[in-house]
Amino acid sequence: MQFIDLAAQQRRIRKKIEAHMARVLDHGQYILGPEVAELEGRLAALVGAPHALGCASGTDALLLALLALKIGPGDAVFLPAFTFFAGAEVVMLLGATPVFVDIASDTYNLDPLKLERAAVAARTADPRLHPLPEHPAGPLKPRAVLAVDLFGLPADYGAIAALAQAEGLTVIEDAAQSLGARQQGRWAGALAPLAATSFYPAKPLGAYGDAGMVFASEPELDAIMRSLRMHGMGAHAYEHLRVGLNARLDTMQAAVLLAKLEIFEEELALRQEVAGRYHKLLAGAPGLRPPQVPQGSVSAWAQYSVLAADPAKRQELRERLAQAQVPTAVHYPKPLHLQEACASLGYRPGDFPVAEFTAERIFSLPMHPYLEAAEQERIAALLSQG
Ligand SMILES: Cc1ncc(COP(=O)(O)O)c(C=O)c1O
Repeated sequence: MQFIDLAAQQRRIRKKIEAHMARVLDHGQYILGPEVAELEGRLAALVGAPHALGCASGTDALLLALLALKIGPGDAVFLPAFTFFAGAEVVMLLGATPVFVDIASDTYNLDPLKLERAAVAARTADPRLHPLPEHPAGPLKPRAVLAVDLFGLPADYGAIAALAQAEGLTVIEDAAQSLGARQQGRWAGALAPLAATSFYPAKPLGAYGDAGMVFASEPELDAIMRSLRMHGMGAHAYEHLRVGLNARLDTMQAAVLLAKLEIFEEELALRQEVAGRYHKLLAGAPGLRPPQVPQGSVSAWAQYSVLAADPAKRQELRERLAQAQVPTAVHYPKPLHLQEACASLGYRPGDFPVAEFTAERIFSLPMHPYLEAAEQERIAALLSQG
């Protein structure tokens, strides 16, 4: 059994992928060829975002968004303490300060109730209101909130947007795991003025290498990011208006993605079926909490992550599954504030208790559109043994 079975998908559409790649070999425009613009247009239309910009990875997508907002030293960017490292990484690369916010225990996404206090604490340098980094000391300028749609479930953008407006923060959606998800009928990628997604091969829409995209609601931001993704270029390739990056989306990856896009919505429906079967099968499993989806939201089910009653139970269940050749993974074993790479910020264990509790208990089960009912029944039987 595969954790994510990319080969099953490839068996379905291999000919189409080869035809798309052959077209790139024929026209030879390997950098910003026509497939890049075509993919941008199709995804902008699909998610309902006014602008879409292909780039080299989800991490570059986040970096481009922060660069476009001119985020730098002295600025605070608020983000959940429990997620993949990329968001905190790009904030720190720019010399800005990640101000972590704890997650909600039911969705594992940023807890909006804690965001307001975090913003006031950062602006007034008052750690009694909210755990702050020890370094840099002194007030920070609250600039942006980087909300993450963890495991494919959109963060609570209604609440986040209201608080962000009151504090003058720009909301950025990290939709790396959530392309295809919806909230109140709107697609992930269009839930904030700026959104970043990833086409890392294991993502719901995955390339055959690294690739990403930034969605923007404002034409000015899109234009700045278009320049930034190509060395800050101006009217032509050798005019540079700003310091940027080489962060272009490969034409070949765009061609692969266009082939996969043809079956993407069907695959999203299959993911829903797989998740629905897990819900039913695991409803009575002792000591295990299946994921919860708030009303009005639809997850893209990048991961199907369950919560064990305690750390020992997680280990026991994972070992039981491993012995039966069922792969599992832990997303994520260590919250961001306790990562070695963040040590210079001076956060402490206990700062974000829900993130720490979750990191010790969560684990992910095999999840992909082609997971069969019989395989899920076997997994559930193993988990239901108590
Ligand atoms: C939440 C989140 N943000 C950002 C990224 C970074 O994306 P990429 O691996 O394409 O750079 C990932 C992916 O791994 C992710 O899961």
